[in-house]
Amino acid sequence: DLPKIFLTRELPPSSMKQLRERSQLTMNHEDRALTKQELIAGLQGVDGLLCQLTDIIDDEVLGANPNLKVVSNFAVGFNNVDIASASKRNIAVTNTPGVLSDSTADMAWALMFAVARRVVEGDRFVRAGRWEGWAPLQYLGLDISGATLGLVGLGRIGRAMIPRAMGFNMKVLYWNRTRMDIAEEHELGVEYAELDELLAQSDFVSLHVALSEGTKHLINEQRLGQMKPTAYLINTARGPVVDEKALVQALQSNVIAGAGLDVFENEPKLEPALYDLENAVLAPHLGSATIATRSKMGELAIENCLAGCAGKRPPNLVNPDYDDA
Ligand code: GLV
Ligand code: GLV
Repeated sequence: DLPKIFLTRELPPSSMKQLRERSQLTMNHEDRALTKQELIAGLQGVDGLLCQLTDIIDDEVLGANPNLKVVSNFAVGFNNVDIASASKRNIAVTNTPGVLSDSTADMAWALMFAVARRVVEGDRFVRAGRWEGWAPLQYLGLDISGATLGLVGLGRIGRAMIPRAMGFNMKVLYWNRTRMDIAEEHELGVEYAELDELLAQSDFVSLHVALSEGTKHLINEQRLGQMKPTAYLINTARGPVVDEKALVQALQSNVIAGAGLDVFENEPKLEPALYDLENAVLAPHLGSATIATRSKMGELAIENCLAGCAGKRPPNLVNPDYDDA
């Protein structure tokens, strides 16, 4: 018998085809996130759950089906899943690492350009019919070429930032929980810096840490204050890594020059004043949003889900204490 899988929201066509061929699929056909009660109802009687970062998979949800074998998250981040509870119940939890690193790094770059070269402000200005011709002092921004980039977190996505930065002749500082060995730093052309120092020296601070207890509000009022007044903050990681209220204040009072944000503390709600700030570029969590990347994420998520359903160790297991014996 094919495994029973519940999918919380439609995936790209190639993934849907695979799922229909290789599982007994039930799914949410509506283009919206499910409520907790709908999630619990959908989980009844299935072997595997294929879910999104917008689904909160807490202890109650995990406990709703005692035969659930795997939670396959269609994302690299898995802060939406209660990992301890899943481990306690011996449910495998998986993510989709690697395949979205380039797309997400590209998005960080898009935000850097958009905010520092004032592309979005300029677009609004042109569309408003206010442009009266080239002017020497119009919408002056900051050069990315030759600037200093500070990478906060050096996982796969953080690392994908490095070759892009080299292409723009940037100096690259990084801060990470664990430091690389010096030979590797030399090879990559990056320098380690403590967070305080990185914040003080960087023209662009780009966040690439996972969200955890340790990284919640990592960028707070005090740390924003350590940045240069000419510097930009770029966030393609997770919203709660930044204290959004403190960020709004820093943007309003020009403590920093601007921010390019793809993620927010309470998506899809934003700190209200953000909507009016000209020095912020706001994107609706598009880091992995390309056709190719979402299709690759689908492939990985399906392989992980099928392996878990079959009682095998999935390739991208994130709860290491899971026991497949
Ligand atoms: C997107 O935010 C992801 O974690 O894949
Ligand atoms: C994502 O793939 C990361 O580890 O940063």
